[in-house]
Amino acid sequence: MKKNTIVLAYSGGLDTSVMVKWLMEHMNADVITATGDLGQKRELQGVQAKAYATGATKVYIKDLKDEFMRDYVFPSLKAGALYEKSYPMATALGRPLLAKMLVDIAHKEGATHVAHGCTGKGNDQVRFDVSVAALSPELKVLAPLRDWEFKSREEEIAYARKNNIPVAATVANPYSIDENIWGTSIECGVLEDPMVEPPADAYQRTISPELAPDTPEYVEIEFEEGIPVGLGGRRLDPVSLVFTLNDIAGAHGVGRIDLVENRLVGIKSREIYEAPAATVLHFAHTELERLTLDKSVFHMKNQIAAEYANLVYNGLWFTPLKDALDAFVNETQKTVSGSVVVKLYKGSTAVAGRKSVYSLYNAKLATYTVEDTFDHKASEGFIKIFGLPVKTYHQVQDKVAATAEAEKERKDLQPVPVQ
Ligand code: ARG
Repeated sequence: MKKNTIVLAYSGGLDTSVMVKWLMEHMNADVITATGDLGQKRELQGVQAKAYATGATKVYIKDLKDEFMRDYVFPSLKAGALYEKSYPMATALGRPLLAKMLVDIAHKEGATHVAHGCTGKGNDQVRFDVSVAALSPELKVLAPLRDWEFKSREEEIAYARKNNIPVAATVANPYSIDENIWGTSIECGVLEDPMVEPPADAYQRTISPELAPDTPEYVEIEFEEGIPVGLGGRRLDPVSLVFTLNDIAGAHGVGRIDLVENRLVGIKSREIYEAPAATVLHFAHTELERLTLDKSVFHMKNQIAAEYANLVYNGLWFTPLKDALDAFVNETQKTVSGSVVVKLYKGSTAVAGRKSVYSLYNAKLATYTVEDTFDHKASEGFIKIFGLPVKTYHQVQDKVAATAEAEKERKDLQPVPVQ
């Protein structure tokens, strides 16, 4: 029988390490591992050696940071996409790009299948499977965690020992963590109780606001057409800018998010996020839009932001709707250039200044001083017509109520008939 070739999305953790061997055994396959560098610092160390030691026939490690920022993160920043108004979607945005990496390698290697280590109850399986289906409909996707025999970490470790798969001797992390340049997602362990405040060790990349410096720090962020291009007057490429801002904001305890969220598969789950740069950039970007966007565009864009976030969260990145929403968002961003000063202080972000050549803020219209040029008299006629439907409605209501009241009184005053 001809051997299968499977490209596996590999993190180097226990699940995907066991998976290399399991796929070789159960699928009569050569397994090629593919690891995408999305700026996760911790996980990448030793991945190559680990993958070969586990039985991979080839190992790919791809630096996707720049592509991730430009083609995935920044479009969603421009859209203002925060899932359920809170989550900047570091994990959700990374999945379609990792799926694309799998598909590219599968084509290059003539693979029959791709595989990933997502569980059967999360969003990530949907994002991988749907993205692969979009990019390469003929490729088959395997998700061993959905159907293999292991019921616990201990069983996986036993299988690893039996098959000489190196397993790190360290104590298992109590949390499930997914990390990239745009943010860290942390769940499981004590976090599964929504009444429990996250213990200090749950946080990976931000300092607690209580321990943050007593003096605030001001950062000026420069945007061009909705994209951040500079920090404090220094032009930076996307990856350097976000890494730098993660460090600055994380040191002030900014970017911690504690969210009970609605998963696509119908479960409510509790997740902690740390996204210092994402939090500051979304905040600053919106502040700049408040200054430069036309009122109705700003309002419509808020609706689009929610749609965009749902689409990303639900794994629908490679869809015509995404392209259509991007077209709308990009049109709106033509005037979103300028800079915003953000004040970081003990976990909070506040706007300390904003400016743009496209600013629609007109001091002569806004001022209450003698500089005022607003036509106060014109308001009277405007309000008369603007308020006309309200007035008409209430006039009718009052009239109906008065008639009913008169009728009731008339009835009450009827003389009692003679017995
Ligand atoms: N809930 C987030 C999402 O669906 C993150 C999922 C991965 N989380 C994790 N801790 N491994 O995008």
